[in-house]
Amino acid sequence: MPPAPDDRPGPSRNLAVDFCGVSRSYGRVRAVAGLDLRIAEGEVVALLGPNGAGKSTTLDMVLGLTDPDTGTARVLGTTPADAVRHGRVGAVLQTGELLPHVTVGELVELVAALHDRPLGVDDALRTAGIGDLRSRRTTALSGGQVQRVRFAVALVGDPVLLVLDEPTASLDVASRAALWETIRGQAQAGRTILFATHHLEEADTYADRIVLLARGQVVADGPVTELTGATRGRTLRATVPGADLDRLSALPGVRTAEARGEAVVLHCTDSDRALRALLSTGPSARDIEVTGADLTDAFLALTADPPR
Ligand SMILES: Nc1ncnc2c1ncn2[C@@H]1O[C@H](COP(=O)(O)OP(=O)(O)OP(=O)(O)O)[C@@H](O)[C@H]1O
Ligand SMILES: [Mg+2]
Repeated sequence: MPPAPDDRPGPSRNLAVDFCGVSRSYGRVRAVAGLDLRIAEGEVVALLGPNGAGKSTTLDMVLGLTDPDTGTARVLGTTPADAVRHGRVGAVLQTGELLPHVTVGELVELVAALHDRPLGVDDALRTAGIGDLRSRRTTALSGGQVQRVRFAVALVGDPVLLVLDEPTASLDVASRAALWETIRGQAQAGRTILFATHHLEEADTYADRIVLLARGQVVADGPVTELTGATRGRTLRATVPGADLDRLSALPGVRTAEARGEAVVLHCTDSDRALRALLSTGPSARDIEVTGADLTDAFLALTADPPR
């Protein structure tokens, strides 16, 4: 359920993540540039944005793996490093290999031993959907199984906050859906979940809220419906025999026109005016469809580089 607007994190709610004016540069690259991000406990938040937008750098700072150059980063009411040290944060990172020369069970046991109140190893493996892989060597796993082992490792400390950097990258469709069901179960069990993804439909399906990053800054933050509403534009699609794209793009209410096989697609500023104009100038237009902006449109519009 998306949170109601007045249900957003306020000072009275416990904040899992509280970033205020956070910046982080690597040499001359400003990976994160003045980021404000507050996530309440219990929220499921997707971090979206093009390659290089600063998602992993942001998650690395949540995990205390790197520090902000400026601004303040708090996690679960303390410093990120402290929250991680006390086992209150679990993570699946974008890079890094599993420890070799051990079995899956031994690896998860090792991690459990680092925590004060871990889950049982069998419990963590079962939740991650790999109860049958306990005695398998970590070097003898498929890509999807490796992701599930990483998930078990993230889970075994019984964390309040789960941080997942593209957890389903490189998984097939069925494995992705299965892992998301597992993650959703963890959200229902009350864990706070912050994940980065490039799959817009995953963000749409599994997050309460989407934070869209571009050039190290938040360019949009809210429930999916708010984001798609933010771009306003609607699309009108029709079959227009002998279509003249220049003439169509000059119609009132139309921003641009493009050909898609037999059909034309009109990106509109005002789809009602565009539809009336289309029918009055070309009565042979048929198979007309008007659709609202979808998440892909919103993503592209909101993350586009500003004109120079
Ligand atoms: N260790 C590093 N040294 C130098 N530059 C870095 C380093 N890590 C990240 N960067 C740069 O910082 C910017 C943000 O990178 P980051 O990995 O946070 O992006 P991202 O949103 O996670 O991208 P992707 O979708 O490709 O995973 C990029 O320009 C990247 O090249
Ligand atoms: Mg990344």
